[in-house]
Amino acid sequence: MCGIIGYIGSENAVPIIVDGLKKLEYRGYDSAGLAVYSGGGFEVVKRKGRLQALESEIEQNPIKGFAGIGHTRWATHGEPSNENSHPHLGHQNKIAVVHNGIIENYKQLREKLEAGGIKFTSETDSEVIAQLTEYYYKGDIMETVIKVVNRLEGSYALGIMCIDEPDALIAIKKDNPLIIGVSDHGQFIASDVPAVLKHTNQVHYPNDKEIAVLRKGSVQFFNLDNEPIQKTPETITWSFDSAEKGGYPHFMLKEIMEQPKVLQDTFQSAANTGDNKPIIDSLDFTRFNKLVITACGSAYNAGVVAKNVFERLCGITVEVELASEFRYKDAVVDDKTLVILVSQSGETADTIAAMREAKSKGAATLSVVNVIGSTIAKESDFCVYTAAGPEIAVATTKAFSAQLVLLYILAIRFAVQLKKLSPEAERELLAQIKALPEKANDILKQVDLIQQYASTCVGCKSIFFIGRNIDYAIALEGSLKLKEISYIHSEAYAGGELKHGTISLIEENTLVVAISNCKRLYDKIMSNVEQVISRGAKVLLIGNCPAAGANETDKKLSVIELPETNELFSPSLSVVALQLFAYFVAANKGLDIDKPRNLAKSVTVE
Ligand code: M6R
Repeated sequence: MCGIIGYIGSENAVPIIVDGLKKLEYRGYDSAGLAVYSGGGFEVVKRKGRLQALESEIEQNPIKGFAGIGHTRWATHGEPSNENSHPHLGHQNKIAVVHNGIIENYKQLREKLEAGGIKFTSETDSEVIAQLTEYYYKGDIMETVIKVVNRLEGSYALGIMCIDEPDALIAIKKDNPLIIGVSDHGQFIASDVPAVLKHTNQVHYPNDKEIAVLRKGSVQFFNLDNEPIQKTPETITWSFDSAEKGGYPHFMLKEIMEQPKVLQDTFQSAANTGDNKPIIDSLDFTRFNKLVITACGSAYNAGVVAKNVFERLCGITVEVELASEFRYKDAVVDDKTLVILVSQSGETADTIAAMREAKSKGAATLSVVNVIGSTIAKESDFCVYTAAGPEIAVATTKAFSAQLVLLYILAIRFAVQLKKLSPEAERELLAQIKALPEKANDILKQVDLIQQYASTCVGCKSIFFIGRNIDYAIALEGSLKLKEISYIHSEAYAGGELKHGTISLIEENTLVVAISNCKRLYDKIMSNVEQVISRGAKVLLIGNCPAAGANETDKKLSVIELPETNELFSPSLSVVALQLFAYFVAANKGLDIDKPRNLAKSVTVE
């Protein structure tokens, strides 16, 4: 939920840390801070609010150092304030710590330290790490860190510096992301790869409880018995440009526009599996009698779309569960169940917990993940990577689209194994998926039309999204996208459900977005459209079978026409129009689209 970064090397750490924090700000933006070692001790700057506040402070009162750590915060324990910002220091200012995660036993640890006379200066759980480290420190930082992590319960990615050992920067993780970057001018720690891409594409992915000791010219790894571990860095193929806005006003718009390429790349790389994993073709789908898809937020919505596709192609029942529910519901899964985990970050706490729960019950786990080397990618039995590249905007767009493509392809593979598809049918379906990038591109060409329509919706208090079957599944994503970035209340309903209660919310000029790509259900959804129009609603109809029969002269009805495709893959086209609609409504309201209030991209807490 928070972002951490650290640098030790031959260059001034301050601009490197600030620049890295910019790339991590999507992880939290309640406050930011940094500490550098500057000869005599730590220079610390912390500011509540966006990173800009920290930058301004540093511009006015410049500081310098060749080793430092920084943090961007999504508040959990304690309000956003300067005091609660990281880095936290020990009571004698000897130790500085940045932390991403939650220390579950912080109260007990804090009480004990306070009873010994140590004064805390913040309300955070994280400060206890700095205080405890300083309390234990007797001249050997490695020994101290081992002692500290043996006392911590919860999750953490930590950057630690000690004033008595200024030539070392220590990092360790448990259940939260941490990468170690290696460059010719220095070494880095970070929560995510884009923070270091400007300097290096050589990155280590430490496992839980492996300690990294970074020095100006080296990185060493140790286990908790202080024994050295050998690790080889991986080469990152993401380009530096992929984590830049490239002239667009927001990352979200850039990422929407990148989708044709992402669809194509994901289609082409669909056979690639996570490192050291068995290839996906070795997964014998015929041994399962149950398929569960579990995820959170948009990734869950991708699962709802996929349920429609798997059920239609494979003829099996598929359960889709919110990971936050699955983990606590005593799920009925066993060794005949395949559990598919969908996650852009691969670090979502609820999805990780759902995966571990499924594994503990003997289920096979297959993950669809975007971030290489992430916890879910590593721990699942099988992993396929979406080729979306780094996604920076908090609202997911291109990663969602890539998830859909991989899930379609998995459904086709499994249907082939189950002998539900002939080779011709398989070829035809794959050809339809292959054609999606060009069709998505055609929708992007309608950007002006969508922008124009969105500009009329800025004052809406509530917007409803309706659809039937797979159109309903993608309506869920359209609604989520709109509400998270525009702060307009919105709900998605199955068209047939309106009459069971929701229709009472329709008033004069309430906006209803109707999605229509299922030819066989066209009349049904159109009758829902007429029902809401006759009660005063205005309707935006999005789909590939919208025009016939629709009275376009009716001022209450507007149409965005989508290219034809197989009904099963139509969500990949609907979603592009829905994303653009949400984006432009929010843009017209002048909102901070890439960093919506209260949200963070990677939700590593419960
Ligand atoms: O990284 P994940 O895909 O596991 O994240 C899941 C959700 O937190 C994420 O999709 C969230 O709903 C997005 N903000 C939606 O745009």
